[in-house]
Amino acid sequence: MTQTARPTPDTLRRTDFPAGFTFGVATSSYQIEGAANEDGRGPSIWDTFCAQPGRIADGSDGSVACDHYHRWEADLDLIASLGVDAYRFSVAWPRVQPSGSGPMNAAGLDFYERLTDGLLARNVQPHVTLYHWDLPQPLQDAGGWANRDTAYLFAEYGAAVAARLGDRVRSYATLNEPWCSSILSYEIGHHAPGLRDRRLALAAAHGLLLGHALALPEVRRHAPGAQAGIVLNLGPQVSASDRPEDVAAARLADGRLNRWFLDPLLRGEYPRDVWEACGPDVPDVREGDLDLIAAPLDFLGVNYYSRGVVGASGGGVPAGAPVTDMGWEIYPLGLTDLLTRLRADYPKLPPVVITENGAAFADERSGGQVHDPQRVAYLQTHLMALLDALDAGVDVRGYFAWSLMDNFEWAFGYGKRFGLVYVDYPTQERTLKDSARWYRQFLR
Ligand code: FCB
Repeated sequence: MTQTARPTPDTLRRTDFPAGFTFGVATSSYQIEGAANEDGRGPSIWDTFCAQPGRIADGSDGSVACDHYHRWEADLDLIASLGVDAYRFSVAWPRVQPSGSGPMNAAGLDFYERLTDGLLARNVQPHVTLYHWDLPQPLQDAGGWANRDTAYLFAEYGAAVAARLGDRVRSYATLNEPWCSSILSYEIGHHAPGLRDRRLALAAAHGLLLGHALALPEVRRHAPGAQAGIVLNLGPQVSASDRPEDVAAARLADGRLNRWFLDPLLRGEYPRDVWEACGPDVPDVREGDLDLIAAPLDFLGVNYYSRGVVGASGGGVPAGAPVTDMGWEIYPLGLTDLLTRLRADYPKLPPVVITENGAAFADERSGGQVHDPQRVAYLQTHLMALLDALDAGVDVRGYFAWSLMDNFEWAFGYGKRFGLVYVDYPTQERTLKDSARWYRQFLR
């Protein structure tokens, strides 16, 4: 695809990518909005979770976050100033429908309409995620995603959002990272609602996929000109050695993280090896569910941060490998490997969009500047890895940096900074990091 000499990290420019390739930045509602008790927003599972002692590393919550709910206009100016084509944000279900069922909250829908129109006025495409983990608390009280009813309610909520925003939104993702909102949340207990029950986790994962499947046609009906898809967190799970027990462990880890979601969506079946490994914990899959779940997507959103190195006696980052402030290995080649593998293994793979990629580092502001050379290098090397995947023939249409600005990093609170823009929480002042300046230059 790129026939010219291969760029270096320093010469890399957007013109190295195909014409029409979309570049953006991403955020999510609970991580930036704040205003948790304003204009009729109802409580979400993250409000509840944060209020439980010991759940969040710094004891914080999203009640103020980046105060984006009030500062949205200045934030949209900031986004436009970066020169990006697109902005990916999520709609908070409890802001739009406070109880998760029943009446809509006009003020909530109005907020997302202002955001959408504000982006269009600045020539930035709105890309919406309908669910980025902030489930209305009343739905959790009824069992959350492990209760099939939630899937049907999600489709109603999705229909209401798509009916209001319509084709002004360029792309709708139903869900962000269903592995996180099921396994990480119901089995590992690290995210809201903080449960530790594998049977419920697998029921939740199936409920999420069903919710996606039911919402997709609603989005298409109300926004026929928009792209409709789903976002998964994926990463290669490689074996720590070639000992058969390590290879088997890595294969199962790949099955649990990647194939458990990819196979139903792109093949209409759960992976048999993982299904068998789950024994009595497997979900109740009803007649017709998998046909619905496997309906064609306009795009698959891929969030890529790192790979996993897995052995029978546990995994971990290889000794001496570079890591981010999250302790995640910096491994750009994993992005190329992942994308070429998707293309090889899934004949029905739709066009791919990298909906998140980025890194946390312990940034400091001094003299009005934030020097983050490691993040600049992270972005550059991952964009180069993406070029390699394009060269190998993978159909990738866009790339979104995570994140526009520092924000509430879930169970880690405000201690982990992923932004291209630095946020000074006491004053809410925003400062472009060197990485934001680099991205702007790259896009120019
Ligand atoms: C992803 C989430 C996003 C952010 C990044 C660091 O799993 O989608 O909200 O927390 O990780």
